[in-house]
Amino acid sequence: MHSAASSPAPGWLVEPDDANDLVLSVWPASAGRDEAGSLQLGGVGAGDIVHQYGTPVMVIDESEVRSRARALRTAFERAASEHATTARVYYAGKALLSTEIVRWVMDEGLNVDVCTGGELEVALAAGADASRLGFHGNNKSVAELARAVGAGVGTIIVDSAIEIERLAALTSRTGTVQRVMVRVNSGVHAETHDFLATAHEDQKFGFPLGEAPAIVARIREIPGLTFVGLHCHIGSQIFGVAGFRESASRLLDVHQELLAGGDIPQLNLGGGFGIAYTRVDDPTPIAELAEGIVAAVAEGCAARGIPVPALSFEPGRAIVGNAGVTLYEVGTIKDVTLDAGTRRYVSVDGGMSDNARTALYGAQYSARLASRVGGGPPVLVRVVGRHCESGDIVVDHEYLPADVTPGDLLAVPATGAYCAPLSSNYNHVPRPPIVAVRDGASRVIVRGESMRDLLARDAGIQL
Ligand code: LLP
Repeated sequence: MHSAASSPAPGWLVEPDDANDLVLSVWPASAGRDEAGSLQLGGVGAGDIVHQYGTPVMVIDESEVRSRARALRTAFERAASEHATTARVYYAGKALLSTEIVRWVMDEGLNVDVCTGGELEVALAAGADASRLGFHGNNKSVAELARAVGAGVGTIIVDSAIEIERLAALTSRTGTVQRVMVRVNSGVHAETHDFLATAHEDQKFGFPLGEAPAIVARIREIPGLTFVGLHCHIGSQIFGVAGFRESASRLLDVHQELLAGGDIPQLNLGGGFGIAYTRVDDPTPIAELAEGIVAAVAEGCAARGIPVPALSFEPGRAIVGNAGVTLYEVGTIKDVTLDAGTRRYVSVDGGMSDNARTALYGAQYSARLASRVGGGPPVLVRVVGRHCESGDIVVDHEYLPADVTPGDLLAVPATGAYCAPLSSNYNHVPRPPIVAVRDGASRVIVRGESMRDLLARDAGIQL
């Protein structure tokens, strides 16, 4: 073991006995090694995937997405039925979106939440029943709203007074009636494993809770709009129930007040359920989370003497995060000597263009050799990308086998959420394909970009 004084490793990072091990909570359930030591995902060898599609490649395990979607739906439906209500789970498409993924989650009985006209088009192109879509966003354009109303989107989550007037004008022209929820901010903000509760939130989303009665009164005057309930999303990568409980309690005070003006069939408490990125993350099991949140709402309603509304939730990361694994090829390796010891920099052929989360949020990931089982003692590494920026880090701190070498394949698990959607062409690097694996077969669900795709946007190049 390294002592803190002789290693640049952070205190939380545990030196594993075996730097080839696959920690169950981080990887898809199908992950394992074959007899030769090569990583298998969804019954397909990492080497075969790379042989067919190249590197980097984002692999998404279809069965993992489906089973997580099912587990969430079942957990919330079961908890709701124990508390005399119903629950609906929307998949937050911003976490990872393609027509295939929309079909998987809808097939598993989920609804889908979109937050731009582009996401809406993908869901509609997938053949989604529009009545099972929710549409978010703090700056929906008139064109986007017209498309959503015209397509028959089930619920529009309104975020500003201007948007409400846009919808009033639109629905009076089309003669349709649109169901809307009102996004409020409860003053509860979850910061990973903790939550903060304030009276006023300094952020762009939703209405301050205190403004909700006037906003809802306005909506109730508009013949083309039906108010169905309040909506609140308190943040992301949340462990535990406490933040949801506090937020629900604040929302129910207003919900109760609004009941004087008419029925309110629903309450949406958003998403944000945390996942394991490294072996030290210990998210609350989903059944426990569902039971805790639903019980908190039911108790809050009982205390106020009001009926329990139908509940909805919008997880994204918890469905796709651990289903995604990015495969890279190791290029160059160098040891950098520091006061505290040595750090081995392992460069891969992707980076912040396919995973911006480390640079953007200081996110932590883990990594394993994918093409083989490595040898030698674990060495502390930092996995970095190929971009011209020192913050281009993929995995900040990890132990890998000492013999990691150029040409090895490296797998970074838990990249299914918010990596592909945040990807860019920084430094003119093409975006990788997304390849789905299931039952021993693989297929592209989002094509990778070619150099030609990149050059095609330059108005000065004739292709
Ligand atoms: N509902 C609303 C209204 C949201 O804004 C979000 C996420 C979700 C649901 C889904 O949250 P999830 O269950 O996936 O945590 N790019 C950041 C996360 C941004 C989350 C944006 N909103 C990241 O990579 O950590």
